[in-house]
Amino acid sequence: MPEHPGTPLLEVEGLGIRFGGLHAVRDVTASLPPERITAIIGPNGAGKSTFFNLISGFYAPTSGRIRFQGEDITRLKTHQVVGRGIARTFQTTTIYKELSVLDNAMIGHRVRTRSGLWDALLRTGREQRDERESRDGAMRALERVGLAGQAGRPAGALTQEGQKRVGIAMALSSDPRLLLLDEPAAGMNPEETVNLMGLIRELVGGGLTVALVEHKMSLVMGLADEIVVLHHGQKIAQGTPGEVSRDPAVIEAYLGGHAHGGQMGQPGAAGSGASGTEEGAHA
Ligand SMILES: Nc1ncnc2c1ncn2[C@@H]1O[C@H](COP(=O)(O)OP(=O)(O)OP(=O)(O)O)[C@@H](O)[C@H]1O
Ligand SMILES: [Mg+2]
Repeated sequence: MPEHPGTPLLEVEGLGIRFGGLHAVRDVTASLPPERITAIIGPNGAGKSTFFNLISGFYAPTSGRIRFQGEDITRLKTHQVVGRGIARTFQTTTIYKELSVLDNAMIGHRVRTRSGLWDALLRTGREQRDERESRDGAMRALERVGLAGQAGRPAGALTQEGQKRVGIAMALSSDPRLLLLDEPAAGMNPEETVNLMGLIRELVGGGLTVALVEHKMSLVMGLADEIVVLHHGQKIAQGTPGEVSRDPAVIEAYLGGHAHGGQMGQPGAAGSGASGTEEGAHA
């Protein structure tokens, strides 16, 4: 599945959505290169989750266009977007703690493909026909996140990190080409954050393209190939971690209204110390 070099997997052009008088996302033009990690950052309320909601078809944009693998997907519904190869995780984890890890991943597969949540939970006739396909897709997803050996355990018995992996497996079960992760490291300690970074790198090494929203700068700076910065719904910068962390508009956005968000400019070493190594350091 090699791409033509330079051909973006996803392109958005002039993308925007208004909620009443509020322009939550405004005139954003950006693209995601294939098999790379793009981070979407910005202060609270910048429009990051809304941006994901637009790409994944949860919200219909009020302006602009979205193209995925060359196809215009602007008006597609969520399940159609999933069918094209885009999956996401949510800012708040939505796993079913009483159910097994495998059942969670299977629900992920079903919800994301044909049937609704109730079909999935109640195992209707249609669901039974899809059972095998779902199970296979779910097991493959669990293998990718390192949870195949825990498939039978209740999801709630896993560590915080394990539960995050379940959430990622739920998204991977539809076998996407593009995975959108909304604050995957929220609530994780530094060691778990490093493990998560390793997992994301592995997935990308296997051909996946990842876009992630994250406040933890250690993760963003240590992982992202490219960073898009949103502020008040608008894109104010895009570039490599080094470029973005030196950008005056970005520094202003973080320091201006958010004294505690002032973690820019320390690639790979900010905050948690999760990736405090010399790896990748440049003069
Ligand atoms: N469905 C909605 N209806 C009305 N306003 C909304 C809706 N969804 C988001 N907003 C508003 O849009 C703006 C952007 O919200 P969004 O959740 O995208 O921010 P964010 O960058 O993800 O922030 P955070 O870092 O806190 O998660 C906020 O002002 C929010 O209140
Ligand atoms: Mg958000």
